Amino acid sequence: MNSGNKSLLFSPIKIRGVTLKNRIVVSPMCTYSCEDGMVNDWHLVQYGSFATGGAGLVVCEATGVEARGRIAPQCPGLWKDQQIEPWQRVTRFLKSQGCVPGIQIAHSGRKGSTVPTWIGRDSIADKDGGWQTIGPTAEAFGAGVTKVPKEATVEDINDITSAFVAAALRAVKAGFEVIELHFAHGYLVSSFLSPATNKRTDNYGGSLENRMRLGLEIAESVRKALPDDIVLGARVSVADYADNGWDLKQSLEFAKRLKQLSLDFFDCSSGGLVANVSYDCLNTNEVHIKSAAVIQKEVGIPTGAVGKITDPHFAEQILRDNGATLIFIGRAFLNNPHWPYMAADAFANDTNFKYPNQYDWCIGWKGFAKWRKDIHKDTNNN
Ligand SMILES: Cc1cc2nc3c(=O)[nH]c(=O)nc-3n(C[C@H](O)[C@H](O)[C@H](O)COP(=O)(O)O)c2cc1C
Repeated sequence: MNSGNKSLLFSPIKIRGVTLKNRIVVSPMCTYSCEDGMVNDWHLVQYGSFATGGAGLVVCEATGVEARGRIAPQCPGLWKDQQIEPWQRVTRFLKSQGCVPGIQIAHSGRKGSTVPTWIGRDSIADKDGGWQTIGPTAEAFGAGVTKVPKEATVEDINDITSAFVAAALRAVKAGFEVIELHFAHGYLVSSFLSPATNKRTDNYGGSLENRMRLGLEIAESVRKALPDDIVLGARVSVADYADNGWDLKQSLEFAKRLKQLSLDFFDCSSGGLVANVSYDCLNTNEVHIKSAAVIQKEVGIPTGAVGKITDPHFAEQILRDNGATLIFIGRAFLNNPHWPYMAADAFANDTNFKYPNQYDWCIGWKGFAKWRKDIHKDTNNN
């Protein structure tokens, strides 16, 4: 049995009224599997498997606050009340497994109206079921995303802020206890933040204060509308790799302001803002993890680190170095929805990790720890 008491990965954490049983968070990942923004059996099974797998928190994929705010037509939504009930099936099951249900609410901005990623990244024409997108400035993302967004008016901006609030309240009705605002990856708010994509000359463009305004207004309005016990955080790109773009310095200021608005965590990601920059978008963990450490230390807001965290020892080390409070894991969960079982072998014991009853008797701690050790022995010998 491992000295699990000392593990940080398997230490619970209480934020507002919500207790996560461990620090293992499933990172939001689009699956483009809805019709009319309604989740279905796919979502129940997929998210359910992460919950039976032992995640402390599952942040469900980018969910449109408006139909126009979807990335692809198959993205989920919370722009109308009918979308609440299908999500309730998912959150009920997650809670039955001791897993906290979270959701990322999002607006795609100029990166909307595209085909699902597994088909490509191209814009869908209006005549083929696409829609008019919206952004800070009437400039297309580029590459295959050729659709030129409408430049948002102040009225549009106010409507979008209201849509975030309404979607957050629907998320609470749907049973979610953690809400993450998607302010990253070049989607609407991210494209307002960065000077590389925001060319406005009004109160929402130009200075850092002006570029942050939309994100801060959304954060403030959503926080004020939510019940006190619901956790609210934001995912932000700490770098967009563009010349004269958004960077760690601006992220630090934004994090400070979000903290003042009582946001509970700052999830560090990067990229996705412009098409014409070169970086390996799925191998950016060094940038994220270093930024998460700096922001947590300097701003004092709990951070999330993400990016190719596949080894439980690496996850434990990030927490131990005070580099982050939450470990977001994406593709390793797609590869193995029971990833925490592997981590438990390294860092947990029967006091801080519980298998579902259905499995506990045959692969859990009671008498079967030796069997688990034997699996590792067999694997190592092969
Ligand atoms: C299939 C897929 C879909 C994704 N969808 C989203 C999303 O909806 N929202 C988001 O913020 N990030 C999204 N991401 C990024 C992941 O949340 C994560 O930050 C990224 O994959 C790096 O973590 P990993 O190396 O553990 O996979 C997606 C990534 C993948 C692979």
